[in-house]
Amino acid sequence: MLTKRSSIDRVRPEAEILKEGAEWLKAGELVAFPTETVYGLGANALDAFACAKIFEAKGRPQDNPLIVHVCNRSMANRLVKDWTSAADLCVQHFWPGPLTLILPKTALVPDIVTAGLENVAIRMPSHPVALGLIKETGFPIAAPSANLSGKPSPTRGSHVWRDMKGKIPLILDAGACEVGVESTVLDVSGGVPTILRPGGITKEQLEEVLGEVRVDAPSENQIPRAPGMKYRHYAPQGELILVSGLRERVVQRMGQEIQKGHARLKRVGVLCTFESASFLHNWTPDLLFVLGSKDRPQEVASNLFEGLRLCDDRRMDLILVEGIEEGGLGSAVMNRLEKAAGKRSQHI
Ligand code: TXA
Ligand code: MG
Repeated sequence: MLTKRSSIDRVRPEAEILKEGAEWLKAGELVAFPTETVYGLGANALDAFACAKIFEAKGRPQDNPLIVHVCNRSMANRLVKDWTSAADLCVQHFWPGPLTLILPKTALVPDIVTAGLENVAIRMPSHPVALGLIKETGFPIAAPSANLSGKPSPTRGSHVWRDMKGKIPLILDAGACEVGVESTVLDVSGGVPTILRPGGITKEQLEEVLGEVRVDAPSENQIPRAPGMKYRHYAPQGELILVSGLRERVVQRMGQEIQKGHARLKRVGVLCTFESASFLHNWTPDLLFVLGSKDRPQEVASNLFEGLRLCDDRRMDLILVEGIEEGGLGSAVMNRLEKAAGKRSQHI
């Protein structure tokens, strides 16, 4: 399949480009589009055949449900059977934005979208291109992140191009995504609201509005409530070691690892904060990528997937990543890194 990559204005998306995207979606095809978190791979959420193409294009396991994107509350109302007061509060405070709500679904939502679950994941994105596209099509759009399964989520049009060219007819490219990590997935279907995946809206922000908020933290032999969280997600080609703790110690440990790696003829990539970069530079890693300032987790989040993808593109055998402080967006960043590191995570 021939893939077209169209540049589109992120603030005032061109009407004719949105229209072209809507035409493909109405024809039951897939269109990749930017959201404020990461790029999504969209299909008509009410069309089971169109949604099946998403699983095929990504190589996604069938048991992993999709998030449905809406552009207004009345569109959401048609998909959700019972709203809870916690859900209403979330809509008031955080929509449009990087928060996905888990609620009981109506019969309108095809089973393939929820992987047979009774609840649907639903979110109103704030990116003007995403909102414009949903409005133009007139129906909700099911969209997972637009990466091949197992790769980091795409935060640039070029990432989507890499993973999806030849598989879908159209990519709407509006440049870099602002948030850079995926939305927070919050179960508000009843009981204490529970975070199933940390993301763009922080636990602290949710607590301010909802009071008590829990985090689903299944132990090793328990199944997470968001099916997607059981996968390791991104497994880099090279070995990834996550090092966190006091900066002096992190720099020292990374320096040792760079030396050890070089002695074994490995190509070593480093992803670190702005504050550590000049020290690590002296150890001459094969790639040094600055994620952002340790004091601005937002910056780190928006550069994270770009940095990880770069390490694979440049064929690093060993990838050393500096952790950042937990709390706020830092928790979402560390969640992604811990998954990518598997068991190779060191706090020193
Ligand atoms: O920011 C985002 O959320 C992006 C953009 C495109 O909106 N989308 C995204 O989708 O990250 P995806 O498919 O990569 O991740 C969706 C997560 C998965 O962990 C999935 O298991 C969980 O949400 N999920 C989806 N539907 C669910 C449901 N009905 N119940 C529990 N978890 C659900
Ligand atoms: Mg994903």
